[in-house]
Amino acid sequence: MTDITPLLRNRWSPRGYDPDHTLSSQEADLLLEAARWAPSAMNLQPWRFIMGLRGDPVRARVDRFVVGHSDWALDASALVVNICRSGEDHLEVAHYDLGNAVADMCLQAEALGVHARQFISFDHRGLSQEFGITAPWTAFTMTAIGRPAAGLEPAGRQRADLSELVWPTD
Ligand SMILES: Cc1cc2nc3c(=O)[nH]c(=O)nc-3n(C[C@H](O)[C@H](O)[C@H](O)COP(=O)(O)O)c2cc1C
Repeated sequence: MTDITPLLRNRWSPRGYDPDHTLSSQEADLLLEAARWAPSAMNLQPWRFIMGLRGDPVRARVDRFVVGHSDWALDASALVVNICRSGEDHLEVAHYDLGNAVADMCLQAEALGVHARQFISFDHRGLSQEFGITAPWTAFTMTAIGRPAAGLEPAGRQRADLSELVWPTD
């Protein structure tokens, strides 16, 4: 093997989506299934998701809280609310666990031929009220999933050099 898996190499987070593309409920179920099998500390699985497919009544309720800097996400085929249960385990790794599950869902999206962008900028309070999300649960992030808008290409994606990734041990 000379490169990382293509799912990882080709992954990117579009900031614009094709408003005519749709995801089927079967594809949505596969996204949730990918998250379901994510690892978590003590196998607590401290996550829940609201899956909003364009056209569904649930999606219309989610859209109301995608505001300001995140309005690009409204064109996505799916908007997923990523919900975390925290404060109950002494390791305090629930958010880390949720990130694992969301990452796996995003890679499953790549496998389905679409892309995903996570975002944290939305009306957390309003959305939580709308869906009755209260402690110990938190609506932490959202993910926009779909086909990139026409003409949109990965741009400006930069990473620290591989040599910077490795903690110096000498
Ligand atoms: C936890 C998390 C929160 C993010 N929040 C936002 C956000 O609020 N708005 C946004 O446009 N992008 C957001 N992003 C997307 C990142 O900016 C993006 O992943 C990063 O620039 C790397 O680009 P790439 O995913 O295409 O490699 C978020 C990503 C993660 C993982």
